[in-house]
Amino acid sequence: MFDYATLKKLLFKLDPEKAHEVAAFALKTAQQVPMVLNPLIRKNFVDDAILYQELFGREFHNPVGLAAGFDKDGDFFKALMALGFGYTEIGTVTPKPQRGNPKPRLFRLIEEKSLQNAMGFNNKGSYHMSKNLQKHYPFATPLGINIGKNKTTAENDALGDYETLFKAFSKQGDYHVVNISSPNTPGLRDLQNEQFIKALFKVAKECTDRPVLLKIAPDMEAKQALNLATTAVEAGAAGIIATNTTIDYSLSQNAKDTGGISGALLRDKSYELFYALGKELHGKTTLISAGGIDSGEEAYRRIKAGASLVQVYSALVYEGPGLIKKINTELAELVRGDGYESITQAIGADL
Ligand SMILES: Cc1cc2nc3c(=O)[nH]c(=O)nc-3n(C[C@H](O)[C@H](O)[C@H](O)COP(=O)(O)O)c2cc1C
Repeated sequence: MFDYATLKKLLFKLDPEKAHEVAAFALKTAQQVPMVLNPLIRKNFVDDAILYQELFGREFHNPVGLAAGFDKDGDFFKALMALGFGYTEIGTVTPKPQRGNPKPRLFRLIEEKSLQNAMGFNNKGSYHMSKNLQKHYPFATPLGINIGKNKTTAENDALGDYETLFKAFSKQGDYHVVNISSPNTPGLRDLQNEQFIKALFKVAKECTDRPVLLKIAPDMEAKQALNLATTAVEAGAAGIIATNTTIDYSLSQNAKDTGGISGALLRDKSYELFYALGKELHGKTTLISAGGIDSGEEAYRRIKAGASLVQVYSALVYEGPGLIKKINTELAELVRGDGYESITQAIGADL
């Protein structure tokens, strides 16, 4: 591809959120120009039959997706296929638009190839996203919609926000994700309790026929995470995404005392929790792993721990747009090297 090392030097001179806006603008522009997009798709999109799966009623040509938070409004998800992603998760979207937390709220931990963010669900709201989807959904690659409550909505009324969102997107997106694991909305993680989860999936069933997944935080004991995940699955969840960012600031001496850490610093913590979930839940539900994935080897480690799909965010910032093709190419080699005919045979192989 082009030389990302040079571009990265320029981007890293910018404030991190500015750099994100530049990348988002480029992707949004590219999305409108098939002459730009199509050659990039041919170049970067790995469509190797060994990586193919059918999930949530859709075809996943490769298992590497973009994690939530990068395209919060669904403004440029079609361009993400040109970076090689097999699917994209947009959001977190809230019912009403909101600005998020005061800036600066996104930081690079450069030496540790990590990010720390306290964005607080800055987004243009469900109406804007739904309008975007009316134009562009369904799309060639599957689309997840990650939903959250507004900051100003009291914890007692949180269920109402999720109900509004299930209804708003009842005919859009290939799966929905309930985000109660962001550390940047006060009180949100308190909703990670069995009572709320049971009520949540009851409402989901009444409002949408889309598969609904739960995304969980890495800052829990494995036993607690497992209880929550099991409760969710028994209440009707179609899968679990683990994990969101961590508030374990002991991972870095450079950490700020606000926001969640993602990237390399999160890798092992996220893997360990995921493995514990895989041990109990593999075969019972669909598991998706996120947190510090930056190579085919790491993606394969998650797959062997029970992940049907993986997601990447922070490593994209550090390694650039060539990364997803590299992960998928390595992954296909690893699956083949182990003598499997399909990635589906490798899922859970280490459990
Ligand atoms: C800047 C930034 C914003 C994020 N925003 C969201 C979000 O809105 N909703 C969400 O569920 N996760 C969000 N995340 C978490 C990611 O989706 C992912 O779970 C986490 O970063 C771990 O993956 P990674 O180590 O590959 O970055 C965000 C992460 C970053 C770095």
